[in-house]
Amino acid sequence: MRPSETPLIGADALEARIAALAWDIGEDCAQLRPVLVCVLQGALPFARAITRRLRIPYTLDFVRAKSYTDTESSGTVHLLRPPAMSVRRRHVVLLEDILDTGRTAHALVQYLREQQAASIRICALLDKPSRRIAPVAAHWRGFVIPDLFVVGFGLDLNERFRELPDIRTLA
Ligand code: IMP
Ligand code: MG
Repeated sequence: MRPSETPLIGADALEARIAALAWDIGEDCAQLRPVLVCVLQGALPFARAITRRLRIPYTLDFVRAKSYTDTESSGTVHLLRPPAMSVRRRHVVLLEDILDTGRTAHALVQYLREQQAASIRICALLDKPSRRIAPVAAHWRGFVIPDLFVVGFGLDLNERFRELPDIRTLA
């Protein structure tokens, strides 16, 4: 499988949309001193692009989750790396590369609730709503895409193609 010749979302479009997302986060969270929680590893380029443009005070943290989808019906999510800092009474913005089935984000929201976060908002670069299984929605989202597997800008296929500067489908 190879990335498509032409991007689904070009680097300039990503840049412009992420700038708008950073603006929206800044407007909504100006007084909240949010904890931005980047979901490794896929969301790292997205988190970097967001933080480069954010002009409000924030704390940055990271989590790593792994979803084991052995069968279609049972998708268990394991938190391989919890946040380093306490999120208790903090306003959390979860930075996700993509919302697919929603299981990962849903499990992370549950975890953050258990840790008594004051509020939890999801900011997802990409959203595939047609694939949703778990009841989660993004507070902010970059692009809604159809049910296609995409790579690039941090998104991988078995650890490959994260380095692409844009979003491509696989052909
Ligand atoms: P979930 O199904 O919403 O829990 O998504 C789990 C993870 O699957 C995401 O955080 C991505 O790392 C990965 N994923 C889902 N769809 C794609 C895709 O189209 N390309 C690359 N990774 C994906
Ligand atoms: Mg992945």
